[in-house]
Amino acid sequence: MSEEAEKGPMATETPTDGAAEFMSRPIDPDRKSVPIDTGVPHPARVMDFWLGGKDNFAADRAVGEQIVGGAPILPIVMRAERQFLGRAVGYLAGVGEVRQFLDIGTGIPTAGNTHEVAQAIAPDAKVVYVDNDPIVLSHARALLVAASPGTVDYIDADLRNVRQVLEGASGLLDFSRPVAVTLLGILEFIADDQVAEILAVIKEALSVGSYLAVASSASEGPLPAAAELWNSSGATPITLRTAAQIGAFLDGLEVVSPGVVQLPQWRPDASTEYLELDVPQYGGLARKT
Ligand SMILES: C[S@@+](CC[C@H](N)C(=O)[O-])C[C@H]1O[C@@H](n2cnc3c(N)ncnc32)[C@H](O)[C@@H]1O
Repeated sequence: MSEEAEKGPMATETPTDGAAEFMSRPIDPDRKSVPIDTGVPHPARVMDFWLGGKDNFAADRAVGEQIVGGAPILPIVMRAERQFLGRAVGYLAGVGEVRQFLDIGTGIPTAGNTHEVAQAIAPDAKVVYVDNDPIVLSHARALLVAASPGTVDYIDADLRNVRQVLEGASGLLDFSRPVAVTLLGILEFIADDQVAEILAVIKEALSVGSYLAVASSASEGPLPAAAELWNSSGATPITLRTAAQIGAFLDGLEVVSPGVVQLPQWRPDASTEYLELDVPQYGGLARKT
């Protein structure tokens, strides 16, 4: 029997990369009791597993492997989403001339993080990252905040407490000026009865000239069976939505061409992959006028 199997899915593990020191100290005064629960799969760590990273645990790998068995497109979806992030943030910092970014649902840092893309175009760009996974927090502090002191911040918070997220972000960002809010791969973890209000609060907080970018998993295509498996794992449930429902996230804003489309189809550039594939993840962005 493998070591992993002997431990069983509820075992507490040491992560495979660098968060052990962090795990022994409180996260922040308000979230002292939040442990890293390695027995329950978490979106950031399963995504990390699919992207070939090291920051995942047996429970993440078990459900990640099972799900990919039924929906082999998922690692492609994750890579397409990172590529979309790059093009969307590039557009926002370039054409959109935005200098403030609020990236909610950061994920475990990998190549081409929001501040790297934005600051390559506008070195004075400020970025606040938000995630509710303690593993993301440990890496974000080391790789995101420390790497760009003064221009990058990180908030350990939950999007479902959207007012707390916005209040925390206002420590670095000035909401009386344009801010681009990115919600990429996170709205599927927000239930139908909460998502409309969260989006309304964000849109209301933004000043004219601000942007909202979204990317979310589609109910059309191969993901429903994978979502069912995910939802039976005890993890935060996922809600798949139709392309039209994902498009409606941007209601009330001026949608940038080509609208909300499968991610590779959104303003592809020379490095965009998977253009020929049916990728069940839709995204786009829109401006507040
Ligand atoms: C699939 S990953 C997407 C990462 C990155 N945005 C991307 O597109 O590559 C989703 C991220 O959202 C975070 N997340 C999920 N639900 C959340 C919530 N309610 N509040 C804050 N973060 C959340 C997860 O921890 C994870 O890091």
